[in-house]
Amino acid sequence: MWQTRPFKIEAKAGQTLAFCRCNRSKNGPYCDGSHAGSGISPYVVKFDQDKAISACGCQQSKNRPYCDGSHSKIIPA
Ligand code: FES
Repeated sequence: MWQTRPFKIEAKAGQTLAFCRCNRSKNGPYCDGSHAGSGISPYVVKFDQDKAISACGCQQSKNRPYCDGSHSKIIPA
């Protein structure tokens, strides 16, 4: 787990972000290349417009790289 809440990200139009899928990144929620050799590739998202997103921080979301609220189920409020 990177943190107990989502990462709030202000993506910009034209920006491409690579989000970690392997859970090994030391720079979550972003890919830092730690997946090398695992056969796993990051979620690569290109934003067509400025967009505020909540990226999964707990690594449990079923809708990664986005938060689906799963952190609230595994971490008591
Ligand atoms: S470091 Fe996890 S997908 Fe790249």
